Amino acid sequence: MIEIDLAYGHLVRLGGATPLTIHRQTRTVKGYTASSYGDGFADVYDDWYTDVSDIKATVNAVDALADGGAVLELGIGTGRLALPLAERGVAVTGVDASPAMLAALRAKPGAEVLELVEADMADPGLAGRSYAVAFAAFNTFFNLTDTAAQESCFAAMAACLRPGGCFAIEGFVPPVDGMSDGGMSVRDIAVDRAVLTISQHDSTNQVITGQHVDISEAGIRMRPWMMHYRTPTQLDAAASTAGFMLESRTADWQGSSFDSQSETHVSVYRLVDRR
Ligand SMILES: C[S@@+](CC[C@H](N)C(=O)[O-])C[C@H]1O[C@@H](n2cnc3c(N)ncnc32)[C@H](O)[C@@H]1O
Repeated sequence: MIEIDLAYGHLVRLGGATPLTIHRQTRTVKGYTASSYGDGFADVYDDWYTDVSDIKATVNAVDALADGGAVLELGIGTGRLALPLAERGVAVTGVDASPAMLAALRAKPGAEVLELVEADMADPGLAGRSYAVAFAAFNTFFNLTDTAAQESCFAAMAACLRPGGCFAIEGFVPPVDGMSDGGMSVRDIAVDRAVLTISQHDSTNQVITGQHVDISEAGIRMRPWMMHYRTPTQLDAAASTAGFMLESRTADWQGSSFDSQSETHVSVYRLVDRR
């Protein structure tokens, strides 16, 4: 069975989360906003997710695509990717909707060279800029929780890239044999703490919702997340509508070939010159 770990969209294969009886399929987490994920995870983000993807390969690939130009990262978080990119001398702007994530990033050495924008990446308000590259790493694009927000993001990227600029998206490929309906699983157990993951999957609308429920002697901390996953073909269609064409698709940032067995993809969309 394929599960999503979860909050981050990290594909893991499990023997099976405990199925829950899903009495009602919900398409949203009530009260969820663009900042909910970041505000819920900022205090544990670096502990839980620093090694979740290949930082060096990502930075190498984005740096090469930028070829000396400026870069925009969507959902910059705590700067896991942006800080090493900036260390190479690349001019980096980062958008994030979460004040808590941005505060964690601002507290780090090197953050002072980044331009940080607190905004919803569906439309960060950067039209007229001339970035060489925009990118959304490791399923962050799926944090835009509905199709309209994702289409808006593509349009916003078309408006802030320089002519011929590109937008790179890294995401998981939804398994053709489907994903579990959701359930409950154990993420972590310590003598003074347990972290449970509760999720629901609405396959019709391609939405996964959930909570990491973090229980310790200090109390219970809710860490909500929500993801609208898309197939590569669906992303291609949305990109095309906004004026992009698919330039390359690899299985990862290292350039491994993409095929029908690939569980992840890095898709580079190039802005088409319409003059
Ligand atoms: C999975 S984290 C990735 C952080 C960073 N890019 C990395 O690779 O470590 C997703 C980030 O996107 C931000 N985010 C989620 N939805 C957003 C939205 N609608 N607009 C802007 N930022 C958003 C979250 O606050 C979080 O910092």
